[in-house]
Amino acid sequence: MNFYIMTLFPEMVMDGLHTSIIGRAVNNGLLSIEAVNIRDYAFNKHNSVDDYPYGGGAGMLMQAEPVYQCYRALEERIGKKPRVVYLSPQGKTFHQEMAEEFAKEEELVFLCGHYEGIDERVLEEIVTDYVSIGDYVLTGGELPAMIMVDAISRLVPGVLHNDVSAEFESFQDHLLEYPQYSRPEVWHDKRVPEVLMSGHHANIEKWRREQSVIRTAKNRPDLLLKAELTEEEKRLAEEISGCKAGDMGL
Ligand code: ADE
Repeated sequence: MNFYIMTLFPEMVMDGLHTSIIGRAVNNGLLSIEAVNIRDYAFNKHNSVDDYPYGGGAGMLMQAEPVYQCYRALEERIGKKPRVVYLSPQGKTFHQEMAEEFAKEEELVFLCGHYEGIDERVLEEIVTDYVSIGDYVLTGGELPAMIMVDAISRLVPGVLHNDVSAEFESFQDHLLEYPQYSRPEVWHDKRVPEVLMSGHHANIEKWRREQSVIRTAKNRPDLLLKAELTEEEKRLAEEISGCKAGDMGL
């Protein structure tokens, strides 16, 4: 999968995404991540890419033309109109199913705004998806783009060494992940739950599933709306969250 990130701060994106698991996947040729500097498409001798907003107001706006030329150069290189994600608090809130949907693309372009945003006219022409990473305002779209690249990349086959782990974890079935333990058996007087030491796989699976339901009911009861629970699990979730079945949509 090939990611292109249109930004005024290419080093921020490249430094952040070329380490750890994503960095390894890039080195293995499973992914490519390229930051494209919008400033390279500045069309005046001062290399500026921002200007005052018409109508007044605080701050500067990224101008349409450098963004457009940057996009056109990418479109030409890719050889077709790519999906272009504009990171903005005004977009749809990013979630795991969205990541799964984006992971099907061969090419994905991210457009990172800065200052007070980007001239609306170029957004209308090139953006296919408006995405927010949550209800808070950041100084630019770079961190949100990096978050999306990370979440999408780990769904690309081969990026995680054990393919099962992307499948069976938090959110996959709308439940949070169960607690995990490693050596030593006792740490700070806390013992690893007995069932995990038993070697009894069916019991371990049962315990993990129950823990997932308990955690979700405690921390994110909203997720239970979409989870498929047995009658017994529904009762457990109700007991933990203190919500009536109807309130949780169960
Ligand atoms: N740019 C600034 N804040 C943002 C957010 N919450 N999500 C996506 N892009 C942003």
